[in-house]
Amino acid sequence: MQIFQTDLLCIGAGLAGERVAIEAAGSGFSVVCLSLVPARRSHSSAAQGGMQAALGNSAMGEGDCPDVHFADTVKGSDWGCDQEVARIFVENAPIAMRQMAFWGVPWNRVVPGEQTYYKGGKPFTAVEKKENEGLIHSRSFGGTAKWRTCYTSDGTGHSVLFALDNVAAQRGVQVHDKTEVISLIHDGESCMGAIVRCLKTGELRAYLARATLIASGGFGRIYRASTNAVINDGGAHIAALDTGVVPIGNPEAIQFHPTGIVPSDILVTEGCRGDGGTLLDVNQYRFMPDYEPEKAELASRDVVSRRMTEHMRKGLGVKSAYGDHLWLDIRHLGAHHINTNLREVKEICENFLGVDPISQLIPVRPTQHYCMAGVRTNKDGAVYGLKGLFSAGEAACWDMHGFNRLGGNSLSETVVAGMVVGAKVVEYLKGDDTTIKMSAVRDAYAKQQQRIRDLISGTHGRENVFALREAMHDALIKGAGIFRNGQDLTAAVESLKETLARARRAGLASNGVGANPELALALKIEGMVKLALCVTQGALMRTESRGAHTREDYPDRNDRDWLNRTLAYWVKDGDDLPTLRYEAATPSFELPPGERGYGGGKIIPMDTPPKTGKKSA
Ligand code: FUM
Repeated sequence: MQIFQTDLLCIGAGLAGERVAIEAAGSGFSVVCLSLVPARRSHSSAAQGGMQAALGNSAMGEGDCPDVHFADTVKGSDWGCDQEVARIFVENAPIAMRQMAFWGVPWNRVVPGEQTYYKGGKPFTAVEKKENEGLIHSRSFGGTAKWRTCYTSDGTGHSVLFALDNVAAQRGVQVHDKTEVISLIHDGESCMGAIVRCLKTGELRAYLARATLIASGGFGRIYRASTNAVINDGGAHIAALDTGVVPIGNPEAIQFHPTGIVPSDILVTEGCRGDGGTLLDVNQYRFMPDYEPEKAELASRDVVSRRMTEHMRKGLGVKSAYGDHLWLDIRHLGAHHINTNLREVKEICENFLGVDPISQLIPVRPTQHYCMAGVRTNKDGAVYGLKGLFSAGEAACWDMHGFNRLGGNSLSETVVAGMVVGAKVVEYLKGDDTTIKMSAVRDAYAKQQQRIRDLISGTHGRENVFALREAMHDALIKGAGIFRNGQDLTAAVESLKETLARARRAGLASNGVGANPELALALKIEGMVKLALCVTQGALMRTESRGAHTREDYPDRNDRDWLNRTLAYWVKDGDDLPTLRYEAATPSFELPPGERGYGGGKIIPMDTPPKTGKKSA
């Protein structure tokens, strides 16, 4: 058995993983980050539009402060978030942005004087203050009262990741790339590291660690159509769920971004609409103000994605060989703006669509983008159920997003949570007296070795893993898309249960040797289907509509019965459904539940007497 030993093992070398790693390495601890890809190709690099932080430097951000950011975040979450965590986040976000500047992020800066900006397709002027010259500028994003999204044109994730990766290297953080975690090492009480497969050679390794962090991003790739990189398929979530004691928080809370391009579903940033782009239908009519008179294209993402879908359902989408779509129009922003602030969007459109957005419309439709769902942690980032296990970033349900995340709040979360959770990890490492139990290590290693042997020899069957993934994709989008209902969700759960049974009979067609993608998928397909079941079963049980979870058969937001968070456990390996438990959404209400100010919909208030005398959760 090849063994590596470290103080902190970070599963993931994107922004959250590297930010925690920097904190630990800066305090003298050894850190190894595991990554499926070279660190600078982590999915964080695909984030385009920016990071929210209430700096209030720009003219349209004037008067902003953490309190306003807090209110936007809680409303955005449809009151589903942990308000203590949202408060920690908004207070630390400005600090984190300035720290990123110190570490070399080339933020777009305030240019003083009269500037022309666009809102809803129309130009207006605003005066940027002389005394703010050179300070970090911000652009508009959805669901915000102020322009608060700090950006480096439309390559924010890319530039922040490069800056952080430099700092991580300076502090001696090691990155072991092209490696994949296939299980955690634990004894039901403490986590002691992970069993890892080298994706180049296929060899198995044991990484022993005093603290382990899951920062592997989301699991959007359990859906077929997603803006996520193919690496975001939930490998580390599966390892966590497989322990039987770690829950996935709010698995049903899945975000659909309004503007994936058609047909490839690659993201074009919300910054397009923030900078004044509009959405048009088949008649090139701007429809969003009819649905959302105040915020129009800049309502929160759950609302815009729903409105777009409603509009297409009315037959007003553009027919194409790849299904219906709408248009994103940024032509009026002009060549200079597009070539500077939206240049990645331009390249994406040119390279993947053959469209020049300076003169042509961009075909878009809502597509899976983000998991508010994640490994459930407390406000220190400590994972429920296992001592020594932490999580941060999209991988985690920390939970500052509740049922809908605001654009720009996740990239910001990576570095803020990285800073906050990083400090807690350091505290933990300083006080930790964990002993690594070699019997647990040997058992975990032997179990994975046996799984691989069984898959290669077809001990349990020869179900094709790619066909299983297709079946999972089909079930998920039919049942757990933007609009959901009991009938479709029930059908999805039943179909996924069948797929799970088949996944337990998976076997390889290839020899499984070396760098073998079929084996890589075979090792996680059962877990992916389990995650899909957490999503669908969580959604089936939640008989209300909140944020991105929209039930056509339960259209009201039901604060009386559902102001809570789902915790999905996979208690026994052989179970065919997750066990769902619930906890209060927030320990206290700094901002009591109310109207969001967009999106409409009826609310059943907390103090409404129950209809049947029985609570649904
Ligand atoms: O649209 C975007 O640029 C994506 C940002 C985000 O998901 O926060």
